[in-house]
Amino acid sequence: MSDRSPESSGAKAWSGRFSEPVSDLVKRYTASVFFDRRMWRQDIRGSLAHAKMLARQGIIPQADFAAIEGGMAQVAGEIERGEFNWNLDDEDVHLNIEKRLTALIGDAGKRLHTGRSRNDQVATDIRLWLRDQLDALDGLLADYQRALLALAEQHAATPLPGFTHLQVAQPVTFGHHLLAYVEMARRDRERFADCRKRVNRLPLGAAALAGTTFPIDRAFVAQELGFDGVCENSLDAVSDRDFAIEFCAAASLTMVHISRFSEELILWMSPRVGFIDIADRFCTGSSIMPQKKNPDVPELARGKSGRVFGHLMGLLTLMKGQPLAYNKDNQEDKEPLFDTADTLIDTLRIFADMVPGIRVKPEAMAAALRQGYATATDLADYLVKKGLPFRDAHEAVARAVRAAEQKGCDLADLSLAELQAFSPLIAADVSGVLTVAGSLAARDHVGGTAPNQVGAAIARLRATLQ
Ligand code: ARG
Repeated sequence: MSDRSPESSGAKAWSGRFSEPVSDLVKRYTASVFFDRRMWRQDIRGSLAHAKMLARQGIIPQADFAAIEGGMAQVAGEIERGEFNWNLDDEDVHLNIEKRLTALIGDAGKRLHTGRSRNDQVATDIRLWLRDQLDALDGLLADYQRALLALAEQHAATPLPGFTHLQVAQPVTFGHHLLAYVEMARRDRERFADCRKRVNRLPLGAAALAGTTFPIDRAFVAQELGFDGVCENSLDAVSDRDFAIEFCAAASLTMVHISRFSEELILWMSPRVGFIDIADRFCTGSSIMPQKKNPDVPELARGKSGRVFGHLMGLLTLMKGQPLAYNKDNQEDKEPLFDTADTLIDTLRIFADMVPGIRVKPEAMAAALRQGYATATDLADYLVKKGLPFRDAHEAVARAVRAAEQKGCDLADLSLAELQAFSPLIAADVSGVLTVAGSLAARDHVGGTAPNQVGAAIARLRATLQ
């Protein structure tokens, strides 16, 4: 940020009615150029569409539009090459670019802001910016889904203890478990796609708040910028930030999902559990304990969910007390929004990369499954199929589990005679029921964990990811 001399900097764009300049502190406090300059591409794009419309409508001369186009190309080049002189005195990205444009092309630059306000300009820039992020996010969520699917396919039949209350419940396959996260990501993508519909409306034309006296063509600008339509009420157009809140809400849910997966990865990688290992490049060591390999990436992702939820709360609070229409409060929308998108994009990138680096240890999963009487429900179901009411079957199996516990063995290790002591309905055909493979194969319906169903689910999901 360089300071220009008063002569070259000139007065502020709005200083005509003011008798004294703002203090340096107020200047710094009210400026947003430090963070909103990252929307420079969107700002130029919006300005070009607006100027093109002005010329088409005869509001400015065609020659002015040509000059604006040429000037903006130069401004864009300067910014890209890092030569642009971002100036705190010019408050924000909009005034910085307009000022440089005017320095380059003179009066045509001064005509650009005809029929426009920074209020509808900034709302347009944010929507254009967020639309790009949404499109990038959809691709990254798809990458993450593809990575999960590839691992799920390798382990469509690998038994894992399914837990409830973090106690061994019933066998599932590791592939089936991973597909739960693919489903979450599917809903995340749907939510972002839905959010995009409300992002993709054009505020320009609302001007400061009431519309403009010039014969503008909003539909043309909307089309130029790829918007689906215009914001229909000028007051709402400049003050609405629902779309940003919706984005942060959808992002928060995605981070909930990432955080839950992270929690499982951390747990699975703990030597006490030992179900997986994560590739070294996603882990770090300890500066004091030489033996350590810590799952830093999942831990940080779990932690970063908190900052995204915070941004959602921040934006809700930002908006709740604002009267119509634009208030300077709205300038505070950008940093939370930017940080939410940045955090989510980085997190998804790293997860799509990390999932293929998960090394699964089926022996450890199988050993854990042998410890929790995971097929007890299968035995109860077996008895029900032989005619016993479910509650009685539950009771009989509970007693069998207690006996196995006392013997220190699994249900499958009890002899047929021992099992028959708990119900005479038990016959030799029970053996297939008590094995993990039998338990898995029996849950053979859409959404069930039978390996063939997991395979079919993978194929269906793959088809949606083409
Ligand atoms: N930098 C401002 C923002 O981010 C742009 C709009 C300023 N409008 C105004 N009337 N002061 O919201």
